[in-house]
Amino acid sequence: MPHIAYVNGRYVHHMEASVHIEDRGYQFADGIYEYIAFYNRSMLDGAPHLKRLERSLKALSIPMPMSIQAMNVVISELIERNGREHGGIYVQVTRGVARRDHLFPKNTAPALVMTVCAPKFPKPVEIKHGVCVITTPDIRWGRCDIKSVALLANVLAKQEASSHKAREAWLMDGNDVTEGAVSNAYIFTKKDVLVTHPLTEGILGGITRDVVITLAKKAGIAVEERAFTLVEARSAAEAFLTSTSANVLPVVKIDDHVVGEGTPGKHTRKLLELYIDHIYKQTGFKF
Ligand code: PDD
Repeated sequence: MPHIAYVNGRYVHHMEASVHIEDRGYQFADGIYEYIAFYNRSMLDGAPHLKRLERSLKALSIPMPMSIQAMNVVISELIERNGREHGGIYVQVTRGVARRDHLFPKNTAPALVMTVCAPKFPKPVEIKHGVCVITTPDIRWGRCDIKSVALLANVLAKQEASSHKAREAWLMDGNDVTEGAVSNAYIFTKKDVLVTHPLTEGILGGITRDVVITLAKKAGIAVEERAFTLVEARSAAEAFLTSTSANVLPVVKIDDHVVGEGTPGKHTRKLLELYIDHIYKQTGFKF
């Protein structure tokens, strides 16, 4: 299967794709990204992902490298050239290439790179039995709502989770769980209320989060967008996480504490079913 990347206006073989050493993404992590899944060669929720990309860039005063409409064309072309039916696309935009200086360079065009990868579906065993998460302090910067390429704190948290054989790390701001290193975090209280951190500068507003909250409300589930504590999470009836690659994934253990019955809860299973149906309706893909 061909592996083609898009680099600043050119479609190139992945092995030969490269950026300049003075790209500000490399020098300062001065850039943002998006990860978008595609099924049957169509993006899932492409519009909100590209809207979030535009919002992240605006927050950093980086101009859009091209219009959203043009980006859609490049993405479709890239999917075709890679010949993949299902997978993911990383879209990365940096402030561009300039002599190293903290100040924004003048007259520098933003750099745009897109790469395609194989799908990152959760394993059937993870969906069936749920996953474990650990908790660790949230040491990230104050603008986690921007999908910045500066992911060092997330990398460290995810590595810590892996060293404890956990799927994800839930990040703690004092007593509150903010989100995961690469996903949003949720609980169901014993009163059947779905609770997740509100959209603040402390979390990334996940596209999957938006969809799942809408689906939950439509299904008549009570939703509270507020911070929840670790104590609350440990005694919750159910817990789960969401992301573009994990979809809706049940969480059955937080550190050494078993959540609920220690198996995926009924509300979580229902939300997963609704989310799978959302994917099917938009792309025709059946899990
Ligand atoms: N990560 N929070 C963080 C910190 C994330 O990195 C992600 C996504 C999410 C979920 O966002 P969404 O539902 O839009 O995927 C929440 C992606 C998958 C990544 O880093 O590749």
